[in-house]
Amino acid sequence: MSDNKYIIAPSILSANFATLGAEVEDVMSSGADWVHFDVMDNHYVPNLTIGPMVCKSLRDYGIKNFIDVHLMIEPVDDLAADFINAGADLISFHPEATKHVHRSIGAIKDKGCKAGLAINPGTSLSVLDDVIEDLDLVLLMSVNPGFGGQSFIEGTLNKIAKVRKMIDATGKDIRLEVDGGVNLSTIAEVAKAGADTFVAGSAIFGTDNYEETISNLRAQIS
Ligand code: DX5
Ligand code: ZN
Repeated sequence: MSDNKYIIAPSILSANFATLGAEVEDVMSSGADWVHFDVMDNHYVPNLTIGPMVCKSLRDYGIKNFIDVHLMIEPVDDLAADFINAGADLISFHPEATKHVHRSIGAIKDKGCKAGLAINPGTSLSVLDDVIEDLDLVLLMSVNPGFGGQSFIEGTLNKIAKVRKMIDATGKDIRLEVDGGVNLSTIAEVAKAGADTFVAGSAIFGTDNYEETISNLRAQIS
């Protein structure tokens, strides 16, 4: 997926949607690794964002970077397929949002896309037991999904360490992504607990100088 040990994935939820193509170009040329693309349906979560047409628009605009789609939608399978056709590289979904978790993972991977499972703060890690070996990524939520700019839930740190152990036990190349409230004050402990992939929305797009912010975030975890 990437040779970088640590991946920084800016969440475009906090970008300026009126100039999204330029915003993504800007943040990627400022040293980010992945585009984190948050999809909300006002059903699984109480907010509404962007769909596969916007993903395709970014590709048509010339964005070649890895697009990490985070589906906060119910149901999952049809829109996951639409996102794969629109150019997504990886799709994560929430287990509560599909009737058949194993089938949804398989449907994504059969189309040549990478698959991730997103775990809410109140969701038990036991949902990983029977599917972790099939995953390319575990997306651990450190806020309840639905909005950018929320505070990091401290209890996530224990959970990160537990998922790290589960991933290491598989011996497979599975990334551990943490999403929500990751910023200059929290990223070091998130990395120390075992994460290797960091979503940051407001912490990056809320600043004027993306390059400086991303380099400061990296400095905290190097
Ligand atoms: C929350 C989204 C996150 C969020 C992160 O539902 O999945 O990706 O935008 O935003 P910050 O970094 O501002 O917490
Ligand atoms: Zn997200």
